[in-house]
Amino acid sequence: MRNLIDIVDLSTGEIEELIAVACDIIAHPDKYSEACHGKKLATLFFEPSTRTRLSFEAAMYELGGHVLSVSSSSSSSAAKGESVADTAKTVSCYADIIAMRHPKEGAALVAANNASIPVINAGDGGHCHPTQTLADLLTIHREKGRFDNLTVGFCGDLKFGRTVHSLINALSRYENIRFVLISPEELKVPSYIKRDVLKKQGFSYVQTTDFEKYMPELDVLYMTRVQRERFFNEEDYLRLKDSFILTPARLKRAKEDLSILHPLPRVNEISVAIDKDPRACYFKQVKNGKYMRMALILKLLGIEVK
Ligand code: NCD
Repeated sequence: MRNLIDIVDLSTGEIEELIAVACDIIAHPDKYSEACHGKKLATLFFEPSTRTRLSFEAAMYELGGHVLSVSSSSSSSAAKGESVADTAKTVSCYADIIAMRHPKEGAALVAANNASIPVINAGDGGHCHPTQTLADLLTIHREKGRFDNLTVGFCGDLKFGRTVHSLINALSRYENIRFVLISPEELKVPSYIKRDVLKKQGFSYVQTTDFEKYMPELDVLYMTRVQRERFFNEEDYLRLKDSFILTPARLKRAKEDLSILHPLPRVNEISVAIDKDPRACYFKQVKNGKYMRMALILKLLGIEVK
């Protein structure tokens, strides 16, 4: 049985296959409308979510399946002290596949080790978020047509931003990617990622606090919000939250074909004036997420659509 806990659980070949299925779903949605007939997806979300939970649920409905949902820890037995392991065993009795979000790093892995059905990590604390990465990869594929030879800027909270960690891991498997890591000193990419991914694989990367210096070189700019819920004290959050705000003025020296991504939710790190700019891809990214989740559900349930 397969799970998706970390993006590197999927080979680059499998990611290509998922992209091909997602593109086929976009072109021929009717072909897939009964593919998961009789199957149930359980969405277990112990942390806030709009896009991830609803896109999983929309994905399952568009595949003709059903959804069982826990949308907060306070409404489930987690509030009574039930362990993730027991919850996973229980939900395995009702559903065919689980998508789980949890504030603790490693929770999805614990669920996978105890469930008897496939488990998808929909975000575990500040660790990783592989299905957001699938949305990001389809967006980069559709906008740029390649994953090699790209200069990718990551900006904002690179310390706690789990989407950043997963996308760096995913892109580090392609050729000639240059990483530009833009953050305040306190919110730099964790050293384990620099050591195990970037340095180990000999990647070229720069860390900077200067938002504009590398702007003309970027092919992709991945903006993120400062992750308030992961801070130990509110003063630090308030001091850092407005460190980098993307405005039309700041884009003046950017490439004409830059792609601006953001996993959303946006707080104020991208000015709404950018939304009209053809380089803004973040709402396309939302749609792409649903298609990649459809492709992933099919893959993990072993369903092939001819
Ligand atoms: C992200 C997350 O939950 O990590 N949101 C999402 O799933 N699209 C990013 C964020 O919350 O900032």
